[in-house]
Amino acid sequence: MSPEQRTIDQPKIDLAAPDVAPVVPRSEPAPQTDPVFAVDDLSVYYGAFRAVRDVSLTVKQRQVTAFIGPSGCGKTTVLRCFNRMNDLIDTARVEGSIKYHGIDLYDSQVNPVEVRRRIGMVFQKPNPFPKSIYDNIAFGPRIAKHKGDMDDLVERSLRRAALWDEVKDRLKSSAMGLSGGQQQRLCIARALATDPEVILMDEPASALDPIATGRIEDLMAEIKSEYTIIIVTHNMQQAARVSDMCAFFTAEVNEVSDTRTGILVEFDRTEQMFSNPSDSRTENYVTGRFG
Ligand SMILES: Nc1ncnc2c1ncn2[C@@H]1O[C@H](COP(=O)(O)OP(=O)(O)OP(=O)(O)O)[C@@H](O)[C@H]1O
Ligand SMILES: [Mg+2]
Repeated sequence: MSPEQRTIDQPKIDLAAPDVAPVVPRSEPAPQTDPVFAVDDLSVYYGAFRAVRDVSLTVKQRQVTAFIGPSGCGKTTVLRCFNRMNDLIDTARVEGSIKYHGIDLYDSQVNPVEVRRRIGMVFQKPNPFPKSIYDNIAFGPRIAKHKGDMDDLVERSLRRAALWDEVKDRLKSSAMGLSGGQQQRLCIARALATDPEVILMDEPASALDPIATGRIEDLMAEIKSEYTIIIVTHNMQQAARVSDMCAFFTAEVNEVSDTRTGILVEFDRTEQMFSNPSDSRTENYVTGRFG
């Protein structure tokens, strides 16, 4: 299905591996009042080290949710759980549950490749493939055996990421020749090309100058009517500008083991978090007194 045809209100929720029965029959779409994600009592370990604990929150459709908090409190670790990127780290182990439209993302019948197609990710450092601009965008759709017109899909994805006008005359040139800000919009276009429902962004603008950052924020504002976005940011103004909901994490020191474990301190509407946080740790952080 092309992004144009996709109806976000009726998400496809068959995440099963091709050779096993679907976890949920296609004929029974999840009730639309359900959140996209329901996270319950999540902990993540790297080997014996518990990096994050007790995270419970819900992510609603077509909202931007921001994760904020000091370095090392587990924002990236938690973000990676949403599309099972932690599977790729040998020592990582997840406890608790993350439900995606009511389906346990970590169920043995769920296919992580399908999960990552539906829940795309954009990283802190732009990571274009050393290929042409066109081939970067076409990469995922080719793997997914996209049947429609590839030229059309490439153009649409680049337009959505507000990059088309800057690259339309050099689609066959290497993506490595783009500026940092252009590379990041290319990575967003590449994520959009596989028709995801959710986009995870880990500090997508931290390596960019203010103008390129502004373009990424404008882009988020444009696409949020169609996608569900979770963004990690260190930039408080950015969190306040772009997000509807905000989760503040911090790290607690365990005196015995002398290790630091990330916890979710507060999760609320962004406006509320920035104007009247309920926890003094959140207040100290958002007002710049800590971190
Ligand atoms: N692959 C890994 N192996 C072992 N420990 C890890 C790994 N990745 C992260 N950690 C540890 O888990 C904890 C949380 O790290 P994480 O990268 O999630 O923090 P963060 O909030 O994203 O920090 P930052 O703001 O600096 O990006 C840290 O103590 C970190 O050292
Ligand atoms: Mg991080």
